[in-house]
Amino acid sequence: MESDPTFQKLESDPTFRWAYPAFCAHRGAGKLAPENTLASLRLGHAHGYRMAEIDVKLSADGVAFLLHDATLDRTTNAHGRADALTWRELSQLDAGRWHSPTYAGEPPPTLAAVARFCIAQNVALNIEIKPTPGRERETGAAVALDAAALWASTAVPPLLSSFSPIALEAAAFAAPSLPRALLADQFPDDWQAHATRLGCVALDLKHSLLDRERVDAIHAAGLRVLAWTVNDPARARELRASGVDTVITDAVDIIRA
Ligand code: G3P
Ligand code: MG
Repeated sequence: MESDPTFQKLESDPTFRWAYPAFCAHRGAGKLAPENTLASLRLGHAHGYRMAEIDVKLSADGVAFLLHDATLDRTTNAHGRADALTWRELSQLDAGRWHSPTYAGEPPPTLAAVARFCIAQNVALNIEIKPTPGRERETGAAVALDAAALWASTAVPPLLSSFSPIALEAAAFAAPSLPRALLADQFPDDWQAHATRLGCVALDLKHSLLDRERVDAIHAAGLRVLAWTVNDPARARELRASGVDTVITDAVDIIRA
C-alpha cells in the first residue's frame, strides 16, 4: 500500500466502543434512489436503516460533498472531473435525473447538509473518503476536520473509511479522535500492521474475502469488521453469524435493518 514515508504509527482510541448498527445502507439507499443524495438517505431511513455509507470528496474550492466517481458523468448532468468545479457550480447540478424521472432536480449534497439530516434523524454515518486522484491528503484532512466539527456534540461519531492510506493518515492527524476503518477489496497479508499503523478500529472488506476464520482473527487483533456490498439476505445472515459487526447493503428493501 502507498503511504507517506515520514508517517509514524498512529494509536487508535483505546476507549472507543463500537456503537454502530448491524446493517448499513450503501450510498444512502443502494440502488433504490440516486446514490449519495439526501433523497437516498431519507429512503434508507424510511426502510428502517439507522446507519448509512456515503462517498465524500472535495470541490475545486475545498467543500466536502457527496459523489462516488472521480468524474461527474455517470451520476450528474455535467461532465469532467468532480474537483474541476466550485461548490457554487456543483450545487446547481442535477444528481437525480440519471436515476429516474422521480428524482429529477435532486442536487448533490454537502457533507454539512448530510450531517444535519443524520444527526436529526439519529442515523449513524460511515463516511467513505473518496478523493479525486492526487487530492488524497487534502481530502482526508478536510473531511476529518469537517466531520469533527459537524458531529462535535453527538454521542456516536461518524466512522471515517477509505481505500487510501494517505487519506486515512491525513484524517488521523487532523481529527485523531474520530474512528477510522481501512477499506480493501483484496485481503492484505499485512492487514494488522496496516490497521495498527493507521490507528484504525476496523477493517471494511469486500464480503467475498470474509469467512469465520478471518473474522475471528481480525477480532482477536482488537478490530471490528464491516463487509460490503451484501445484497443476498442469506449471505448477510451468514456474515452476521460469522461475527461480522456491520453489513453494508444496497438491498434496503429486502434485508431488514
Ligand atoms: O464503503 C464500502 C463501499 O462503498 C466501497 O466501495 O465503490 O461502493 O464506494 P464503493
Ligand atoms: Mg463507498
